[in-house]
Amino acid sequence: MSDGGNGEDVVKVENLHKSFGDLEVLKGIDMEVDKGEVVVIFGRSGSGKSTLLRCVNFLEDPTSGTIEVSGLRLEGGHRTKGKREQVRQLRIKVGMVFQQFNLFPNMTVIGNVIEGPVTVKDIPEKDARSMGLDLLAKVGLSDKAEEYPIRLSGGQQQRVAIARALAMEPEVMLFDEPTSALDPELIGEVLTVMKSLATDLHMTMMVVTHEMGFAREVANRMMFFHEGIILEQGTPDEMINHTKYPETKKFFEAVI
Ligand SMILES: Nc1ncnc2c1ncn2[C@@H]1O[C@H](COP(=O)(O)OP(=O)(O)OP(=O)(O)O)[C@@H](O)[C@H]1O
Ligand SMILES: [Mg+2]
Repeated sequence: MSDGGNGEDVVKVENLHKSFGDLEVLKGIDMEVDKGEVVVIFGRSGSGKSTLLRCVNFLEDPTSGTIEVSGLRLEGGHRTKGKREQVRQLRIKVGMVFQQFNLFPNMTVIGNVIEGPVTVKDIPEKDARSMGLDLLAKVGLSDKAEEYPIRLSGGQQQRVAIARALAMEPEVMLFDEPTSALDPELIGEVLTVMKSLATDLHMTMMVVTHEMGFAREVANRMMFFHEGIILEQGTPDEMINHTKYPETKKFFEAVI
């Protein structure tokens, strides 16, 4: 479903299935994300949210179905010639931020941010550095460029992780519970940065989160995942105030 077809799709997922052995985790997902759209995905533990994001950038190879990211279309389930290269191309278009920040501990903050552009995109280090410093300014960490990750707070590390993903100039950013490993007082600073990506940069984003305040304020669309399908989706108002399904209602009662 797109919001009336007035935008172009950045992400298109068609009939996506993913099984691990006998366990079918994704049972036929169809979704499109328009350019500049923010989609919040939520649902119970084990419903397949992380697996969906991991399939979008082929960290998991789908069992079947197709993933398309700004025109690059990849099919799951077949090991065709040239697929490795296609997956590499796809990953350049997709930035991902995880629950655990996954920074390189032996590199400085700026080193972390420019690693991708320098090694994957062959951008000269000097240019990458200047872009990297701009990005660190955007996430409010100009003064930490030469610091090592271990000396930063969790919220600061997560903001570095966001800057690092942005440095690749992705078409879409995937966030998998980016604040759930943070102490409560650090959650706000990360959500503020994410909000600014949406409002200032008009970044296309798929965000797995249970931060309903963020969803209400920033999401164009919310999707409720249940047992490997999208059970229900709609605007934040539709989803939060007028849910149709008892499963969604029960979920809200548990998280809010
Ligand atoms: N690599 C794997 N091998 C086997 N089973 C897996 C693998 N990854 C995920 N699963 C299983 O797939 C199901 C969905 O997992 P997934 O991580 O996508 O759920 P989730 O909705 O992100 O849950 P959470 O809210 O806890 O993060 C779970 O039952 C999980 O145990
Ligand atoms: Mg998960």
